[in-house]
Amino acid sequence: MRSQISASHTEGTNGALALDGTAASAVAVARLDRYTSLLDAQREHRELTELIVHDLKAPLSIVRAGLEWVGGHLRPDQRDVADAVADAYAAADRLSGMIADLLTVSQLDGGGMALSRQPVDLARLFERLVRAYQRRARERGIALATEPTAAPGEALAVHADPALLQRVLENIVENAFRYTPPDGHIALSAHAAGRIEIAVSNDGPKIPVGDRARIFNKFARGESEAPRSGSAGLGLYFCKRVVEAHGGAIAVVESDRWPTSFRITLPES
Ligand SMILES: Nc1ncnc2c1ncn2[C@@H]1O[C@H](COP(=O)(O)OP(=O)(O)OP(=O)(O)O)[C@@H](O)[C@H]1O
Ligand SMILES: [Mg+2]
Repeated sequence: MRSQISASHTEGTNGALALDGTAASAVAVARLDRYTSLLDAQREHRELTELIVHDLKAPLSIVRAGLEWVGGHLRPDQRDVADAVADAYAAADRLSGMIADLLTVSQLDGGGMALSRQPVDLARLFERLVRAYQRRARERGIALATEPTAAPGEALAVHADPALLQRVLENIVENAFRYTPPDGHIALSAHAAGRIEIAVSNDGPKIPVGDRARIFNKFARGESEAPRSGSAGLGLYFCKRVVEAHGGAIAVVESDRWPTSFRITLPES
């Protein structure tokens, strides 16, 4: 039995304690054993997460459908109810995005996710995002713009999983909305420089240098952030995992124009 093997030590030539052959292999076997059971526990944990997350999808889509139905059956004078329903719908939508991200992260961590890559035209992706966020930008007095992505007549494309890349940009834009003050700006831009560089930039506070690497960790939030419900600190971890799965990199940078830019570098398609 491995647990009964005790390590015996012999004096090494340099005077240091050295393990004899039998004890050394017993230690190696014990380590391997521990490593295997850790991997098993990790896999079980991942499978459990995926099961829970997957099972949340169905009830959540019933909640969204119900809210949509209620929203469509209100009288014009029921403004307050309409606002409450719209808020609830937006929260269900956010939750739905978080669930999708959790599932993707779990699958990427477990190595069990194949990317469905195809050429993605960045100008069109940016247009879709601007359309989706334009109303929120108007309501907040924020200018949301795309900067020219390619020379006229040229398309700028990356070879990526379109749904995942869109979700990455949505996460960063959602963050940008949280930190951009009224009358501020958010910009999406891209250019080719050997590789494709995509940037989402916003006015607002600079991210402290000490936070710039750690905010990409799982469940990490800014050092000075107050706890906030509905924020898991998972968004940027998701972005990093997805970008790296595409052979790219993501980082926070600042420039004279922008206090905060999230720069994604991807291989050209
Ligand atoms: N545009 C930004 N300006 C300033 N700080 C930012 C910006 N984007 C992200 N951060 C900082 O990075 C932290 C991590 O962001 P991340 O998206 O991973 O988590 P979150 O937004 O707090 O939660 P979640 O995305 O899970 O809802 C944020 O809590 C914030 O401190
Ligand atoms: Mg976020």
